[in-house]
Amino acid sequence: MKNVVIISGLGGVGKTYLTNKILKSDLNNLFHIELRGTTQEDYRQVIEEVGSQDTLLLLEMHPPFDKLKDDMIDVNLIHIGISKDFETYKSELSQEKIKYLNDWFEKHNSKNFLNDIIEYNKSRFDYSNQMPRNSVIVSSINSGISKINQFCEKIRKKELFKFVHKNYNIMLYHSPDFDGIGYKGTSPSDEKFKALKLNELIPEGNNNTCLDVGCNIGYISYLLSHYFKSVDGIDNVEENIKCAKWLKQKFFRDKEIIFNQRDFMDCTLRYDYVFALAVLHHIAKKHKFEDVIKKLSDLTRIAAVVEINEIPRWTFVFKKYFKEIKVIGNSYLPVSKKIVKNRWIIHCIK
Ligand SMILES: C[S@@+](CC[C@H](N)C(=O)[O-])C[C@H]1O[C@@H](n2cnc3c(N)ncnc32)[C@H](O)[C@@H]1O
Repeated sequence: MKNVVIISGLGGVGKTYLTNKILKSDLNNLFHIELRGTTQEDYRQVIEEVGSQDTLLLLEMHPPFDKLKDDMIDVNLIHIGISKDFETYKSELSQEKIKYLNDWFEKHNSKNFLNDIIEYNKSRFDYSNQMPRNSVIVSSINSGISKINQFCEKIRKKELFKFVHKNYNIMLYHSPDFDGIGYKGTSPSDEKFKALKLNELIPEGNNNTCLDVGCNIGYISYLLSHYFKSVDGIDNVEENIKCAKWLKQKFFRDKEIIFNQRDFMDCTLRYDYVFALAVLHHIAKKHKFEDVIKKLSDLTRIAAVVEINEIPRWTFVFKKYFKEIKVIGNSYLPVSKKIVKNRWIIHCIK
């Protein structure tokens, strides 16, 4: 389905200001955003011609729009009518716009441009009461932005649940949130990520690369991307990588993350940081534990972050291949989502 936001309101109310905020917002992670100016006469044609399901089409409507046709059932659509927002607009008006308005009012024998705009608009905003049912009247630009964000979250949530239902017979492992679009998987992903205490390990504003081993559907890779220049996520299960790629396209299209189906033991590229969360004890079922840890060390330049279940002699083996091992704490089990005593998070320094 195409996704359309119609923004209308009288002149001077801040339509362009609102659309500019949306164009520069984090919604770029979710959609390719396109802006078109339209009128009541041609907006349906523009919707037909422009966009795809991955586009968010912003239609700045002029003159104000009060009769939305109800028959556009094949489009995710919201109509935001801005009533007025002088507080934000006034405080953030650009110098060019103030000059333009001052000049205009001077030419038209008027002194105080802001009061005049308010006066002008007040007398004309009654039209908003005539807006149809599926439109939202907002009285501030910020609430317009928040309505558009909620609209986008709803679209993405709908798509995520549809995708999972179609592609997985079991629940997802991760619990992706993406700023509000919640999906409760079997692992407490956000809590677990916080427990890694990365601020103690990774310098801010670095240019480092990172590998996420057993990335599953890529939600932890997404969280890691806030810390690194680039992230490579690998998983040996095709279905997981398919989902990771789908989530990237839908939720974080602008991030430097590459997902590949690959077995950890076949990896050869080196990274500044390597993350192996809840995965090494699985790999050690098929390979000698020491070979697995040696591989981890070979791929790591600065440090590895590991979440691991108890394995005989695990500290001895890690110490053989890393200069320093810091046990950060116990970690969560999936499903029960409880912290247990025989599962650890460790920082392994080269
Ligand atoms: C328990 S999940 C952990 C997911 C994620 N690392 C986390 O902590 O949230 C283990 C993941 O490792 C993947 N995996 C298991 N063996 C692997 C291997 N040899 N190479 C790459 N991935 C592997 C599984 O497919 C699964 O997605």
